[in-house]
Amino acid sequence: MRTVTYKGLTFEPYINNNTISERINEIANSLAQKLGPDEKPLFLCVLTGAFPFAADLFRAYPYDAEIAFIRLKSYEGTGSTGVVKQVLGLSENIENRTVIIIEDIIDTGNTMVKLVADLKQKNPKQVLIATLLFKPESLVADVKPDFIGFEIPSKFIIGFGLDLDGMARNLPDIWVLSEKHDE
Ligand code: IMP
Ligand code: MG
Repeated sequence: MRTVTYKGLTFEPYINNNTISERINEIANSLAQKLGPDEKPLFLCVLTGAFPFAADLFRAYPYDAEIAFIRLKSYEGTGSTGVVKQVLGLSENIENRTVIIIEDIIDTGNTMVKLVADLKQKNPKQVLIATLLFKPESLVADVKPDFIGFEIPSKFIIGFGLDLDGMARNLPDIWVLSEKHDE
């Protein structure tokens, strides 16, 4: 089987780029159907991991929209540190606007809960969550994503924006940590 290796860990193919692209187009259409042509939502890309998803989703969205970026961090290596800190803030005025948070993955949900709470203090019209990946078994926080690309088991994945300590974000496909071990 084709594999890739980062930091001594082996990853197997999991979701290929065509499948990802098709799903992103479906999400863009669902969003357009929900919001209609006049809503002019603000896509809020959570850096760094969500940028490939955000770029594709934003371009597939058929109506007027804006995009902004925010950076948060809660992860080191392959396990959550549980600490969510905002590194790069939002300068756009979101009062009375529809904000669509664009995330790469929701794992424990701690990142999303903190972000949604921060945004709601700025009186948006509504906050929607679009996540490319969702690990429902890992969820500890009270979060319900409005748009989900793929629901996956609680396995560590890389590629299409997702990283292992900064590496592998540029892989066009998504790869999963191999559970096979050499004897
Ligand atoms: P949460 O706060 O636990 O939901 O963590 C969300 C963040 O953890 C994501 O935005 C990712 O940066 C990171 N993360 C969670 N699961 C994975 C994974 O399987 N691979 C790479 N990063 C992950
Ligand atoms: Mg992230």
